[in-house]
Amino acid sequence: MAIVQEPVAEQSIGRTEARYRARTPKSRAAFERNQVAVPGGVPGGLGVMLPYPLYIERAQGRHVWDADGHRLVDLLNGDWVFPLGHGNPKINAAITAQLQKGITFCQPEPDLQYALSQLIQERIPSMERMRFTTSGTEATMMALRVGRAFTGRPKIAKIMGGYHGTHDASVIANGRYTDPTFVPRGLIPGTKESVVLLPYNQPDECERIIRAEAEELGAVIVEPMLGGSGMIPATKEYLERLRRVTSECGVVLIFDEVVTCTLGPHGAQGRMGVIPDLTTMGKALGGGLPLGAFGGRSDIMDLVDSALYPFDRPVRHASTVGGIPICLAAGVAQLEQLTPEVHAHIEALGEQVRSGVGALATRLGVPLQATGLGQFFGLHWTSVPVVDIDTAFTSDSDIIGRIALGLCNEGYLCFYFNVMGVLSLPMTSEDIEGFLQALEATLKENDLC
Ligand SMILES: Cc1ncc(COP(=O)(O)O)c(C=O)c1O
Repeated sequence: MAIVQEPVAEQSIGRTEARYRARTPKSRAAFERNQVAVPGGVPGGLGVMLPYPLYIERAQGRHVWDADGHRLVDLLNGDWVFPLGHGNPKINAAITAQLQKGITFCQPEPDLQYALSQLIQERIPSMERMRFTTSGTEATMMALRVGRAFTGRPKIAKIMGGYHGTHDASVIANGRYTDPTFVPRGLIPGTKESVVLLPYNQPDECERIIRAEAEELGAVIVEPMLGGSGMIPATKEYLERLRRVTSECGVVLIFDEVVTCTLGPHGAQGRMGVIPDLTTMGKALGGGLPLGAFGGRSDIMDLVDSALYPFDRPVRHASTVGGIPICLAAGVAQLEQLTPEVHAHIEALGEQVRSGVGALATRLGVPLQATGLGQFFGLHWTSVPVVDIDTAFTSDSDIIGRIALGLCNEGYLCFYFNVMGVLSLPMTSEDIEGFLQALEATLKENDLC
């Protein structure tokens, strides 16, 4: 029998939630309808909000319109996939043109894969060879497999609170919404034992663990900025130490740049000046269509099976719709438009959010802080500087949720957990001013200042 969540009793809710409920009856109806057949009423866990998700009907530029017809400034941008905003004309034209020619052929298309690989290599030169995938999950799963195959060592190491999608190794201590030590059920036996956990931004402790485990450790995977845990950047010193120790121990270092591949013109690795052995990409790479990539050093990627007979390469990778022409066409149009000027614009907006939140917190005397880099930001309600998953968990998630809901009432759509957001090209300085005013109004409505 389907489990249907009961609505919360109206008298027990605060002003912000009461306003949300009054504004969004069609979202509530959609939730009640959808959750019967779909757990949580949302696709793939995205859009989770309490008391129920906001359902979106359409989007254009920097805006989305919810089921009740409200227009909101969209700081989610499709879960970080639209740095150019929704409905970018050149991406739409590229998709439409490819639609006329054919979505996919099974046989390879001659130009698009080549064009996209060249654009990727201009941005991320360490991607000497690459394979395209359907998702970030597939990309990180494959990169880890390649790392283990190359070294011949069985274990992988990941960061406490690191999110790399939902394959077995990745869901250990992935930090999302829950106690980081929680181990979900249904994993291949031995998964937990084969995953070594590393602390974030603690170079000495990381070095100690990697050296102790080195004989069995095939790969270390790290997000240069913890995304799902709240946009928490790694320090340059930390990444440099990971680079040095993994090189000395013969362990493959993977940067998961599924989110950060559009952080400036050369991803997080270019920004930090630390080059991994393998990189994974996704999210914005496909211009909104499903596309990821994994790649890096030629000698490592040479292990992946090729289309040439005999099929004697040791690592298997196949994907029916991974890197199909329609997604590649959107990806080319996306990367071609992500110029240094575009990056400078969205990064300046990101700085405006972070410094504006800092100034607001000081003026109001509240423990609110903004983390992030470039166009990405996350808000935390704690006076402890947020640098890893443990410090992220000192943030009051109930207050943060109320802030997200309040911002939504005020016309700004953010991620409900950690009030995360990403800026896009069509946004302006006035949008950020409006966001900061909405934030202040929400704090006042909730008697938080
Ligand atoms: C850093 C990182 N890696 C991997 C993934 C998984 O990507 P996908 O949802 O496309 O499978 C995500 C998704 O949020 C991510 O943030």
